[in-house]
This record gives sequence, C-alpha cells and structure tokens, in this order.
Amino acid sequence: MDYSLFEISLFIKILILGTSVCVKINQLIVPDLASPTTSTILDCDYSLEFPKDEGLVVKWFFNERMYPVYQWIPDVKPQELGILKGRLDLSYKASEDKYQVHRALKIVKLSPELAGNYTCSVSTFSSEDSRTKSMLVFVPEKTMELKYPPMWYRSESDSKVLCYVEDIFPKPEMKLYVNSSEIENATIKYQERNSALFDVEIFAFVPGLVDGTSILCELHVTIANYTVRKEAIYYDALISSKAATTSKNYFTILFWLLHLIKYIF
Ligand SMILES: *[C@@H]1O[C@H](CO)[C@@H](O)[C@H](O)[C@H]1NC(C)=O
Ligand SMILES: *[C@@H]1O[C@H](CO)[C@@H](O)[C@H](O)[C@H]1NC(C)=O
Ligand SMILES: *[C@@H]1O[C@H](CO)[C@@H](O)[C@H](O)[C@H]1NC(C)=O
Ligand SMILES: *[C@@H]1O[C@H](CO)[C@@H](O)[C@H](O)[C@H]1NC(C)=O
Repeated sequence: MDYSLFEISLFIKILILGTSVCVKINQLIVPDLASPTTSTILDCDYSLEFPKDEGLVVKWFFNERMYPVYQWIPDVKPQELGILKGRLDLSYKASEDKYQVHRALKIVKLSPELAGNYTCSVSTFSSEDSRTKSMLVFVPEKTMELKYPPMWYRSESDSKVLCYVEDIFPKPEMKLYVNSSEIENATIKYQERNSALFDVEIFAFVPGLVDGTSILCELHVTIANYTVRKEAIYYDALISSKAATTSKNYFTILFWLLHLIKYIF
C-alpha cells in the first residue's frame, strides 16, 4: 500500500499524541435569510481535543473554496479578506475560550453580493473539518410610493396609476388592484443598480377612474415572506394633496419670516 507523506506524518502524530487529535464542527450556524436591518452572525461551533493549539486555523470561504474571506489563528488578530473586507466587526467574540474567540463572522455591512454559500473550515496540524451552508439576503425597500393623477389632471378616457419601490433585493413581485380586483395588464419595469439592488415600477391605465375608487399596490418577496400594501381612495386625491401643499407653504412663509426677523434685529 502507498502512503502519502501527509498520511505518514498524521499516523506518527496519532501515535505520539494518542487518538484524540480530531477537530469536529458541531454546528454551523448560518441564517437562511439575512437582512441589513439586523446584524448577521455566522458561527462555526467546533470542538478540539488536547493539545488544542497544535496549529489551529479557522477559515471561512465564500462560494468557491479557493481563497478564504476570513482567517483566524489564536493569538493573532483575525483577518477579513476578499469580499468581506471592511464588512466585519472584528472585535466580535463568539466565546471567551482562547481557542474559540474569533471563530464567528459578524457582518455589519451586509449587501446582496453576500448571498451565497459559506464554508467554515477548522484545521489543526493533524485534522480538518469543514461545513457549508447557504445564506440568502433580503434588503427591504427604501421607499414605496403610489401615485395617481390628481382629479383636475385626469382625462376622461384613462388615468395612469403608478406604484414604485426603490432599493430592494431580491426582485419583488408587484401587483396593482382597483376596487380589490387585480389589474391583469399592468406593466412592470425592473432596473438593477450597481449595488445589485432593484428599482421597480408598475403602472396601468385605469379607464373611468371615479371618486371612491380604491387603488392598492402590493409588494411581495417570497423568500422573505414579506408583503407591503399601499392603498389610496381616489376621492381624497385633491383634498389631501392640497392640504399637504398648503401646510408646506405655511412652513416656508414662517421660515422666511423668521429669517427676516433675524436680519432686522
Ligand atoms: C451553493 O451550493 C449549492 C449546492 O451545492 C449550489 O447548487 C449553488 O449553486 C451554490 N451557490 C453558489 C452561489 O455558489
Ligand atoms: C387593460 O385592461 C383594461 C380592462 O381590464 C382595458 O380597458 C385596457 O385597454 C387594457 N390596457 C391595455 C394596455 O391593454
Ligand atoms: C370602486 O368602488 C366605488 C365604491 O363602491 C365605486 O364608487 C367606484 O365606481 C368603483 N370604481 C371602479 C373603477 O370600479
Ligand atoms: C408568512 O407570514 C405570515 C404572516 O406574517 C404567516 O402567517 C405565515 O406562516 C408565514 N409563512 C411562512 C412560510 O413563513
């Protein structure tokens, strides 16, 4: 039988140190779904046998197992690498145990690019264990607006109803409803940004939009089980937009008055 050099050295180590030189990952804790609204911790819970410091190295990989994105060796500062550079809280401690302290990743700058497979690899001179788990990323929208023409602007034949969201990930489903029935022929436009976030708009021309009509926009992200609805009753269009403009104008006048007073005195 042929033995590689590694196998022979391993065999010798086992003979010298006894049989209990194995490292074992007990649990790899990676959330199925991560969101930047909460901090994300990826933990690699392992057990080591005596002697613990025999070349312990903890590495995390993202997708391919070519280059680590994180590396930690006891008594050495942890390193964030590649795609994780500048995104981790390196002071995070997963444990007080000297051989476990920096085993976990605390991602403080999460973005859609970080969705993928995470592998934790724990090795000592004589053994290695690794595990992989995937993580999806959900970024809720920054803004969501429902717009429809004010009464004085609407034409007799049709009125454009528009709903849009900005900065969301992944691509959401969007629907428009008029009086609780879905507008089947609404147009959806997706636009992807540099940061992999999406802007989405859905619009439809609704013939005969009359007072008292309910307009509803629904946003849904299946993987996150996330739904947002915005509703407006068409009747209020003129009144509410007028009220908003009026109060804003009062504030503007008040601002200039105060400004003027400041200059006078
Ligand atoms: C993650 O792993 C799964 C299962 O091995 C694979 O199907 C998927 O393509 C991987 N995803 C990425 C981004 O590498
Ligand atoms: C959409 O459907 C409505 C009726 O459901 C119809 O009146 C309208 O012409 C349709 N619009 C387009 C662009 O197909
Ligand atoms: C929607 O319902 C309201 C109140 O029942 C009604 O006045 C209006 O005509 C309806 N609009 C459309 C477009 O069906
Ligand atoms: C999705 O959310 C709703 C309400 O928030 C809940 O009732 C339902 O069980 C959830 N579904 C899944 C698959 O998590």
